[in-house]
Amino acid sequence: MSIVKASPEAIDAAAAALRGGGLIAFPTETVYGLGADAGNARAVAALFEAKARPRFNPLIVHVSTPEAAGVLGQLTETGAALARAFWPGPLTLVLARRPGCPVADLATAGLDTVAVRVPAHPVAQALLQAAGVPVAAPSANRSGHVSPTTAEHVAADFAAAGGGPMPIILDGGASPHGLESTVVDATGADPVVLRLGAVAREDIARVLGGPVALATGEAGKPASPGMLARHYAPAARLRLEATDVGEDEALLAFGHASIPAHPGIMLNLSWSGDLVEAAANLFAALRTLDAAGAKAIAVMPVPEQGLGEAINDRLRRAARPA
Ligand code: TXA
Ligand code: MG
Repeated sequence: MSIVKASPEAIDAAAAALRGGGLIAFPTETVYGLGADAGNARAVAALFEAKARPRFNPLIVHVSTPEAAGVLGQLTETGAALARAFWPGPLTLVLARRPGCPVADLATAGLDTVAVRVPAHPVAQALLQAAGVPVAAPSANRSGHVSPTTAEHVAADFAAAGGGPMPIILDGGASPHGLESTVVDATGADPVVLRLGAVAREDIARVLGGPVALATGEAGKPASPGMLARHYAPAARLRLEATDVGEDEALLAFGHASIPAHPGIMLNLSWSGDLVEAAANLFAALRTLDAAGAKAIAVMPVPEQGLGEAINDRLRRAARPA
Protein backbone atom coordinates (compact mmCIF):
# COMPACT_ATOMS: atom_id res chain seq x y z
CA MET A 1 0.00 0.00 0.00
CA SER A 2 1.78 3.12 -1.07
CA ILE A 3 0.67 6.73 -1.16
CA VAL A 4 2.50 8.69 -3.83
CA LYS A 5 2.29 12.38 -4.59
CA ALA A 6 0.43 12.82 -7.89
CA SER A 7 3.45 13.96 -9.93
CA PRO A 8 3.34 13.60 -13.74
CA GLU A 9 5.56 10.50 -13.42
CA ALA A 10 3.31 8.93 -10.78
CA ILE A 11 0.25 9.66 -12.92
CA ASP A 12 1.92 7.97 -15.93
CA ALA A 13 2.78 4.95 -13.80
CA ALA A 14 -0.80 4.77 -12.51
CA ALA A 15 -2.15 5.03 -16.08
CA ALA A 16 0.12 2.18 -17.16
CA ALA A 17 -1.05 0.10 -14.20
CA LEU A 18 -4.66 0.71 -15.22
CA ARG A 19 -3.99 -0.32 -18.82
CA GLY A 20 -2.28 -3.43 -17.52
CA GLY A 21 -5.40 -4.48 -15.62
CA GLY A 22 -4.35 -3.16 -12.22
CA LEU A 23 -6.24 -1.13 -9.63
CA ILE A 24 -5.23 2.33 -8.48
CA ALA A 25 -6.78 4.90 -6.17
CA PHE A 26 -6.98 8.51 -7.33
CA PRO A 27 -8.43 11.83 -6.21
CA THR A 28 -11.50 13.40 -7.75
CA GLU A 29 -13.26 16.61 -6.77
CA THR A 30 -15.94 14.57 -4.97
CA VAL A 31 -14.19 11.70 -3.15
CA TYR A 32 -11.26 9.36 -3.90
CA GLY A 33 -12.04 6.65 -6.44
CA LEU A 34 -10.71 3.12 -6.78
CA GLY A 35 -10.19 2.73 -10.52
CA ALA A 36 -9.99 -0.12 -13.00
CA ASP A 37 -10.07 -0.27 -16.80
CA ALA A 38 -13.84 -0.38 -17.37
CA GLY A 39 -13.39 -2.50 -20.49
CA ASN A 40 -11.43 -5.19 -18.65
CA ALA A 41 -13.86 -7.52 -16.88
CA ARG A 42 -11.10 -9.16 -14.83
CA ALA A 43 -9.89 -5.81 -13.57
CA VAL A 44 -13.46 -4.83 -12.70
CA ALA A 45 -13.91 -8.13 -10.86
CA ALA A 46 -10.75 -7.42 -8.87
CA LEU A 47 -12.26 -4.06 -7.99
CA PHE A 48 -15.44 -5.63 -6.60
CA GLU A 49 -13.30 -8.02 -4.60
CA ALA A 50 -11.10 -5.24 -3.21
CA LYS A 51 -14.18 -3.29 -2.10
CA ALA A 52 -16.02 -6.37 -0.86
CA ARG A 53 -18.99 -4.79 -2.61
CA PRO A 54 -22.28 -6.57 -3.36
CA ARG A 55 -22.06 -7.59 -7.00
CA PHE A 56 -25.32 -6.00 -8.07
CA ASN A 57 -23.99 -2.47 -7.65
CA PRO A 58 -23.15 -0.94 -11.03
CA LEU A 59 -20.14 1.39 -11.18
CA ILE A 60 -19.57 4.90 -12.46
CA VAL A 61 -17.38 5.05 -15.57
CA HIS A 62 -15.03 8.03 -15.77
CA VAL A 63 -13.82 9.61 -19.00
CA SER A 64 -11.91 12.82 -19.70
CA THR A 65 -14.31 14.52 -22.14
CA PRO A 66 -18.04 14.75 -22.84
CA GLU A 67 -17.30 13.41 -26.35
CA ALA A 68 -15.81 10.25 -24.85
CA ALA A 69 -18.92 9.95 -22.64
CA GLY A 70 -21.11 10.16 -25.74
CA VAL A 71 -19.32 7.12 -27.18
CA LEU A 72 -20.34 5.02 -24.15
CA GLY A 73 -23.89 6.24 -23.66
CA GLN A 74 -26.61 7.90 -25.67
CA LEU A 75 -26.75 11.57 -24.69
CA THR A 76 -30.39 12.59 -24.79
CA GLU A 77 -31.31 16.26 -25.13
CA THR A 78 -31.63 16.57 -21.36
CA GLY A 79 -28.41 14.64 -20.87
CA ALA A 80 -26.57 16.95 -23.25
CA ALA A 81 -27.93 20.04 -21.48
CA LEU A 82 -26.77 18.71 -18.11
CA ALA A 83 -23.39 17.71 -19.56
CA ARG A 84 -22.90 21.25 -20.92
CA ALA A 85 -23.83 22.79 -17.60
CA PHE A 86 -21.95 20.51 -15.20
CA TRP A 87 -19.10 18.70 -17.00
CA PRO A 88 -16.35 18.50 -16.14
CA GLY A 89 -17.69 18.24 -12.61
CA PRO A 90 -19.45 16.29 -9.87
CA LEU A 91 -22.42 15.05 -11.92
CA THR A 92 -22.98 11.46 -13.09
CA LEU A 93 -25.38 10.75 -15.94
CA VAL A 94 -27.07 7.38 -16.38
CA LEU A 95 -27.48 6.90 -20.13
CA ALA A 96 -28.60 4.12 -22.46
CA ARG A 97 -25.57 2.05 -23.45
CA ARG A 98 -24.58 2.62 -27.04
CA PRO A 99 -23.98 -0.32 -29.35
CA GLY A 100 -20.29 -1.15 -29.21
CA CYS A 101 -19.88 0.49 -25.79
CA PRO A 102 -16.63 -1.12 -24.57
CA VAL A 103 -17.61 -1.14 -20.88
CA ALA A 104 -17.62 -4.65 -19.37
CA ASP A 105 -21.05 -5.97 -18.37
CA LEU A 106 -19.75 -6.54 -14.89
CA ALA A 107 -19.15 -2.79 -14.51
CA THR A 108 -22.76 -1.99 -15.39
CA ALA A 109 -24.09 -5.02 -13.46
CA GLY A 110 -25.55 -6.26 -16.72
CA LEU A 111 -27.84 -3.23 -17.13
CA ASP A 112 -28.55 -1.73 -20.54
CA THR A 113 -27.61 1.64 -19.08
CA VAL A 114 -24.21 3.06 -18.16
CA ALA A 115 -23.36 5.71 -15.55
CA VAL A 116 -20.73 8.16 -16.83
CA ARG A 117 -18.91 11.11 -15.35
CA VAL A 118 -16.31 13.59 -16.58
CA PRO A 119 -14.45 14.64 -13.42
CA ALA A 120 -12.91 18.10 -13.11
CA HIS A 121 -10.07 17.29 -10.70
CA PRO A 122 -6.77 17.97 -12.48
CA VAL A 123 -5.21 14.69 -11.29
CA ALA A 124 -8.25 12.68 -12.40
CA GLN A 125 -8.20 14.50 -15.74
CA ALA A 126 -4.49 13.86 -16.28
CA LEU A 127 -4.89 10.21 -15.30
CA LEU A 128 -7.83 9.62 -17.65
CA GLN A 129 -6.01 11.30 -20.53
CA ALA A 130 -2.87 9.27 -19.91
CA ALA A 131 -4.79 6.00 -19.50
CA GLY A 132 -6.83 6.50 -22.67
CA VAL A 133 -9.44 4.01 -21.48
CA PRO A 134 -12.71 4.57 -19.60
CA VAL A 135 -12.11 4.02 -15.89
CA ALA A 136 -14.71 2.38 -13.65
CA ALA A 137 -14.31 3.87 -10.20
CA PRO A 138 -16.47 3.54 -7.13
CA SER A 139 -15.45 5.45 -4.03
CA ALA A 140 -12.18 3.99 -2.70
CA ASN A 141 -13.56 2.57 0.55
CA ARG A 142 -14.60 -0.89 1.61
CA SER A 143 -18.29 -1.40 0.86
CA GLY A 144 -20.55 0.24 3.44
CA HIS A 145 -17.79 2.39 4.92
CA VAL A 146 -17.54 6.15 4.75
CA SER A 147 -16.23 7.52 1.43
CA PRO A 148 -12.59 8.65 1.55
CA THR A 149 -11.73 12.28 0.96
CA THR A 150 -7.95 11.99 1.41
CA ALA A 151 -5.26 9.51 0.33
CA GLU A 152 -4.72 8.64 4.02
CA HIS A 153 -8.39 7.67 4.38
CA VAL A 154 -8.01 5.25 1.48
CA ALA A 155 -4.91 3.64 2.95
CA ALA A 156 -6.44 3.41 6.43
CA ASP A 157 -9.71 1.90 5.24
CA PHE A 158 -8.08 -0.90 3.29
CA ALA A 159 -5.40 -1.54 5.91
CA ALA A 160 -8.02 -1.75 8.70
CA ALA A 161 -10.08 -4.19 6.65
CA GLY A 162 -7.04 -6.38 6.12
CA GLY A 163 -7.54 -6.04 2.37
CA GLY A 164 -4.86 -6.94 -0.10
CA PRO A 165 -2.21 -4.44 -1.04
CA MET A 166 -3.22 -1.60 -3.32
CA PRO A 167 -0.34 -0.79 -5.65
CA ILE A 168 -0.76 2.98 -5.94
CA ILE A 169 -2.76 5.64 -4.15
CA LEU A 170 -2.27 8.93 -6.01
CA ASP A 171 -2.27 11.74 -3.46
CA GLY A 172 -3.88 14.93 -4.72
CA GLY A 173 -4.80 16.43 -1.36
CA ALA A 174 -8.26 16.62 0.18
CA SER A 175 -11.23 16.28 -2.20
CA PRO A 176 -12.76 19.74 -2.48
CA HIS A 177 -16.45 18.69 -2.49
CA GLY A 178 -16.14 15.79 -0.06
CA LEU A 179 -19.48 14.38 -1.19
CA GLU A 180 -20.09 11.94 -4.05
CA SER A 181 -21.38 13.06 -7.42
CA THR A 182 -25.09 13.57 -7.97
CA VAL A 183 -26.42 10.67 -10.06
CA VAL A 184 -29.12 11.60 -12.58
CA ASP A 185 -31.01 9.16 -14.78
CA ALA A 186 -31.02 11.00 -18.12
CA THR A 187 -32.28 8.11 -20.26
CA GLY A 188 -35.70 9.69 -20.68
CA ALA A 189 -37.09 13.16 -21.32
CA ASP A 190 -37.74 13.70 -17.61
CA PRO A 191 -34.51 13.27 -15.65
CA VAL A 192 -34.64 11.72 -12.19
CA VAL A 193 -32.10 12.19 -9.41
CA LEU A 194 -31.08 8.68 -8.32
CA ARG A 195 -28.54 9.80 -5.73
CA LEU A 196 -28.23 13.20 -4.11
CA GLY A 197 -24.69 14.56 -4.22
CA ALA A 198 -22.33 17.44 -4.86
CA VAL A 199 -24.54 19.16 -7.43
CA ALA A 200 -27.65 20.44 -5.66
CA ARG A 201 -30.98 19.28 -7.11
CA GLU A 202 -32.03 22.94 -7.25
CA ASP A 203 -29.12 23.74 -9.57
CA ILE A 204 -30.15 20.93 -11.92
CA ALA A 205 -33.72 22.21 -11.89
CA ARG A 206 -32.47 25.70 -12.70
CA VAL A 207 -30.59 24.44 -15.77
CA LEU A 208 -33.57 22.44 -17.01
CA GLY A 209 -36.11 25.14 -16.17
CA GLY A 210 -38.36 22.93 -14.05
CA PRO A 211 -38.45 20.75 -10.95
CA VAL A 212 -36.48 17.49 -10.99
CA ALA A 213 -37.83 14.34 -9.36
CA LEU A 214 -35.93 12.41 -6.72
CA ALA A 215 -36.19 8.62 -7.01
CA THR A 216 -37.54 7.07 -3.85
CA GLY A 217 -36.97 3.40 -4.70
CA GLU A 218 -39.36 0.80 -3.34
CA ALA A 219 -38.24 -0.90 -0.15
CA GLY A 220 -35.64 -3.54 -0.91
CA LYS A 221 -35.56 -2.57 -4.55
CA PRO A 222 -33.71 0.72 -4.81
CA ALA A 223 -33.77 2.62 -8.09
CA SER A 224 -30.05 3.08 -7.69
CA PRO A 225 -28.25 0.54 -5.53
CA GLY A 226 -26.31 3.45 -4.05
CA MET A 227 -29.58 4.33 -2.37
CA LEU A 228 -29.43 1.23 -0.18
CA ALA A 229 -30.85 2.30 3.16
CA ARG A 230 -27.68 2.00 5.23
CA HIS A 231 -24.67 2.79 3.14
CA TYR A 232 -22.52 5.53 4.58
CA ALA A 233 -21.72 4.15 7.95
CA PRO A 234 -19.34 5.15 10.72
CA ALA A 235 -18.97 2.70 13.61
CA ALA A 236 -20.51 5.18 16.07
CA ARG A 237 -24.28 5.48 16.51
CA LEU A 238 -25.67 8.76 15.17
CA ARG A 239 -28.48 10.75 16.80
CA LEU A 240 -29.79 13.30 14.30
CA GLU A 241 -31.51 16.67 14.77
CA ALA A 242 -29.93 16.85 18.22
CA THR A 243 -30.52 20.03 20.18
CA ASP A 244 -28.77 18.72 23.28
CA VAL A 245 -25.84 16.38 23.84
CA GLY A 246 -25.39 13.53 26.31
CA GLU A 247 -22.34 13.19 28.53
CA ASP A 248 -21.16 10.09 26.67
CA GLU A 249 -21.80 11.51 23.20
CA ALA A 250 -19.55 13.37 20.79
CA LEU A 251 -21.08 16.43 19.19
CA LEU A 252 -21.15 17.12 15.47
CA ALA A 253 -22.19 20.74 15.25
CA PHE A 254 -23.30 22.96 12.39
CA GLY A 255 -23.15 26.75 12.44
CA HIS A 256 -22.42 28.83 15.52
CA ALA A 257 -25.92 29.48 16.90
CA SER A 258 -27.45 27.39 19.70
CA ILE A 259 -24.57 24.94 20.09
CA PRO A 260 -25.25 22.98 23.28
CA ALA A 261 -22.55 23.27 25.95
CA HIS A 262 -20.37 20.17 25.77
CA PRO A 263 -17.17 19.34 27.62
CA GLY A 264 -16.48 16.31 25.38
CA ILE A 265 -15.38 15.88 21.79
CA MET A 266 -16.89 18.35 19.34
CA LEU A 267 -16.40 19.04 15.65
CA ASN A 268 -18.19 21.65 13.61
CA LEU A 269 -19.12 20.94 9.97
CA SER A 270 -19.07 24.68 9.33
CA TRP A 271 -18.89 27.43 11.93
CA SER A 272 -20.26 29.91 9.41
CA GLY A 273 -23.16 27.62 8.48
CA ASP A 274 -21.89 27.19 4.91
CA LEU A 275 -23.42 24.03 3.39
CA VAL A 276 -20.67 23.64 0.79
CA GLU A 277 -18.02 23.69 3.50
CA ALA A 278 -20.13 21.30 5.59
CA ALA A 279 -20.39 18.82 2.72
CA ALA A 280 -16.64 18.92 2.22
CA ASN A 281 -16.07 18.20 5.93
CA LEU A 282 -18.79 15.59 6.47
CA PHE A 283 -17.05 12.25 5.87
CA ALA A 284 -13.76 13.35 7.38
CA ALA A 285 -15.63 14.53 10.50
CA LEU A 286 -17.41 11.18 10.88
CA ARG A 287 -14.07 9.39 10.56
CA THR A 288 -12.36 11.65 13.06
CA LEU A 289 -15.12 11.13 15.64
CA ASP A 290 -14.96 7.37 15.03
CA ALA A 291 -11.19 7.41 15.44
CA ALA A 292 -11.56 9.38 18.67
CA GLY A 293 -13.52 6.43 20.04
CA ALA A 294 -16.94 8.07 20.12
CA LYS A 295 -19.63 5.42 20.69
CA ALA A 296 -22.41 7.85 19.85
CA ILE A 297 -22.56 11.14 18.00
CA ALA A 298 -25.20 13.81 18.48
CA VAL A 299 -25.64 15.66 15.18
CA MET A 300 -27.12 19.15 15.17
CA PRO A 301 -29.78 19.92 12.54
CA VAL A 302 -28.58 20.82 9.04
CA PRO A 303 -31.02 22.86 6.94
CA GLU A 304 -32.75 20.90 4.16
CA GLN A 305 -31.80 23.27 1.36
CA GLY A 306 -29.13 23.35 -1.36
CA LEU A 307 -26.45 20.76 -0.50
CA GLY A 308 -28.16 20.29 2.87
CA GLU A 309 -30.52 17.87 1.15
CA ALA A 310 -27.59 15.59 0.20
CA ILE A 311 -25.86 16.02 3.58
CA ASN A 312 -29.03 15.01 5.44
CA ASP A 313 -29.51 12.06 3.08
CA ARG A 314 -26.03 10.74 3.99
CA LEU A 315 -26.58 11.39 7.68
CA ARG A 316 -29.93 9.57 7.71
CA ARG A 317 -28.37 6.54 6.02
CA ALA A 318 -25.46 6.58 8.43
CA ALA A 319 -27.91 6.77 11.36
CA ARG A 320 -29.82 3.58 10.50
CA PRO A 321 -29.05 0.60 12.70
CA ALA A 322 -26.75 -1.93 10.98
O1 TXA B 1 -18.37 10.97 -6.73
C1 TXA B 1 -18.52 9.85 -7.18
O2 TXA B 1 -19.49 9.55 -7.90
C2 TXA B 1 -17.44 8.80 -6.86
C3 TXA B 1 -16.16 9.26 -7.55
C4 TXA B 1 -15.05 8.27 -7.37
O3 TXA B 1 -16.40 9.50 -8.90
N1 TXA B 1 -17.85 7.51 -7.29
C5 TXA B 1 -18.86 6.85 -6.66
O4 TXA B 1 -19.10 5.61 -7.22
O5 TXA B 1 -19.47 7.28 -5.72
P1 TXA B 1 -19.96 4.51 -6.49
O6 TXA B 1 -19.73 3.26 -7.28
O7 TXA B 1 -19.63 4.46 -5.04
O8 TXA B 1 -21.43 4.92 -6.72
C6 TXA B 1 -22.08 4.63 -7.94
C7 TXA B 1 -23.51 5.10 -7.90
C8 TXA B 1 -24.35 4.12 -7.12
O9 TXA B 1 -25.38 4.82 -6.45
C9 TXA B 1 -24.89 3.25 -8.24
O10 TXA B 1 -26.02 2.56 -7.88
C10 TXA B 1 -25.16 4.28 -9.31
O11 TXA B 1 -24.05 5.14 -9.21
N2 TXA B 1 -25.18 3.71 -10.66
C11 TXA B 1 -24.13 3.30 -11.39
N3 TXA B 1 -24.54 2.81 -12.57
C12 TXA B 1 -25.89 2.92 -12.59
C13 TXA B 1 -26.90 2.59 -13.55
N4 TXA B 1 -26.61 2.06 -14.72
N5 TXA B 1 -28.18 2.85 -13.22
C14 TXA B 1 -28.50 3.41 -12.02
N6 TXA B 1 -27.59 3.74 -11.09
C15 TXA B 1 -26.30 3.50 -11.36
MG1 MG C 1 -19.48 4.57 -2.47
